[in-house]
Amino acid sequence: MKFFIDTANLDQIKDAQELGVLDGVTTNPSLMAKEGITGRNNILKHYVDICNIVDGDVSAEVIATDLAGMIKEGEVLSELHEQIVVKVPMIRDGVKALKYFSDKGIRTNCTLVFSPGQALLAAKAGATYVSPFIGRLDDISTDGLNLISEIRHIYDNYGYETEILAASIRHTMHIIDCAKVGADVMTGPLSAIEGLLKHPLTDIGLAQFLADYKKGN
Ligand code: G3P
Repeated sequence: MKFFIDTANLDQIKDAQELGVLDGVTTNPSLMAKEGITGRNNILKHYVDICNIVDGDVSAEVIATDLAGMIKEGEVLSELHEQIVVKVPMIRDGVKALKYFSDKGIRTNCTLVFSPGQALLAAKAGATYVSPFIGRLDDISTDGLNLISEIRHIYDNYGYETEILAASIRHTMHIIDCAKVGADVMTGPLSAIEGLLKHPLTDIGLAQFLADYKKGN
C-alpha cells in the first residue's frame, strides 16, 4: 500500500519524508489556501517545492471546470516537474480531460469521487488514480469504506489498472480498514500515519527491556 500525505504544509511533508514511508503527496485548493499559498505563480512554485522534498507523485489540481481550461492548466502543471500528477474533478468535462491526458501520457488523479459509477468512468477514461473521499461519506452517515470495497471489486472484475487512492482519510483506523479491503494508496494527515506507530504494550515492553538492561550493566 502506498502512503501519501494530504497536505500542502512543507514541514509536515518533510517530517513524513524523513519517517521513510512516504510515497507521495496530494493537495487541493483548500489545502493550499490553508497554508496561505495564493496567486497562480506562488501555487506553481509551491508544487515544485513539494516535489523537491518528496520522492513520489505529487497531485496538483486544476481550477478550470471546462475542457479547454483543464487541458491548458493540466499541461502547465505536468510540465512543472516529472513527479506531478494532474488532479481533475469528476465532472463531465473532467472525464473528457482524463481521456485527453491519458492519450497524451500525462498522469492523472480523478478527484471528488463518491460513487462506484464515477470510479468506473474514471477508469474507463484512463485515470492513473481515482480518489474516493471516504471521510466525507462517513460525515453524511454513508459507509465510505464500502465504496472502496465496491471499487476494488469492479476494478478487479475487469483488470482496470487505475489505482484506488483512498482520500479524505481522517484517522488511523481508516488506513487499516482501507488496507484490509485493498486500496492501492491512502492519503491522509501525518497524525493518521503516526497513529500506526503507537501501542501501549510497545512502550511498556521497551521500558521493561531498558530497565532490565540497566540492572545488569
Ligand atoms: O484528499 C482529499 C482530501 O483533501 C479531503 O479531505 O478531510 O477535507 O474531507 P477532507
